Amino acid sequence: MSVHKKQVKKVTTHVLQAMKARGEKIAMLTGYDYSMAQIIDAAGIDVVLVGDSASNVMAGHETTLPITLDQMIYHASSVLRAIDRALVVVDLPFGSYQGNSKIALESSVRIMKEAGAHAIKVEGGAEIKESIVRILSAGVPVMGHLGLTPQSIYKFGTYTVRAKEETEAQKLIEDALLLEELGCFAIVLEKIPAKLAKKVSEKLSIPTIGIGAGPHTDGQVLVIHDMLGITKDFQPRFLRRYLALYDTIKTATEQYIDDVKSGDFPNDKEQY
Ligand code: KIV
Repeated sequence: MSVHKKQVKKVTTHVLQAMKARGEKIAMLTGYDYSMAQIIDAAGIDVVLVGDSASNVMAGHETTLPITLDQMIYHASSVLRAIDRALVVVDLPFGSYQGNSKIALESSVRIMKEAGAHAIKVEGGAEIKESIVRILSAGVPVMGHLGLTPQSIYKFGTYTVRAKEETEAQKLIEDALLLEELGCFAIVLEKIPAKLAKKVSEKLSIPTIGIGAGPHTDGQVLVIHDMLGITKDFQPRFLRRYLALYDTIKTATEQYIDDVKSGDFPNDKEQY
């Protein structure tokens, strides 16, 4: 296979800023492996997020908490080997940045150096201010993440919509403004009321990327396994499935098993 890479105009944080300025929506998907990343980059996706949702969809954990920095680097480096055009953002996993800005910087530097990432993403607002400032001081672009932040699931107790109450909505707006002031280049808004997401998106000059946050954010993100219908039981209202791959793959596998067992595969042309 050829390893020659085409010259393409790469998506940078500045490109995303310009897209917001001209009202062009940003399309982001998660990616965790080389083959899938190659397909979505060829399709023209703007941003690939190597999300810590890998803990759920790749490793089968119930939450995002168990995934380690080494595992995130493994997923991220696989994705980065496939990418020609998209901006690749990598989640800092739980425990690798909260409460200690020196550790936050070390974790970010490992992701940038060992995986070749373009930016990192962290969950939270004022509580992680020192970590964000320190990461940014090293020239590493930071994407924020507010609303439902899955690394805090044991604090929230459920995965239901966040910031429906005025106090939490106000705190979210203040956190979003703080993240912009600190120098974050974009913010993911997860599972919050569409009206609040609209308000935040209008207040900020940096792009917002929504998931379950309505149509008014500057971009949208979905977990690729959900979007392609590889996951079956996860059916939140905000999810649009573009394929039903669970059923397609299962049917193909059943057919393959039948063919092997009946001796139909391989046939005369499928041998040397
Ligand atoms: O890890 C992830 O997939 C995410 C998205 C849901 C935004 O953070």
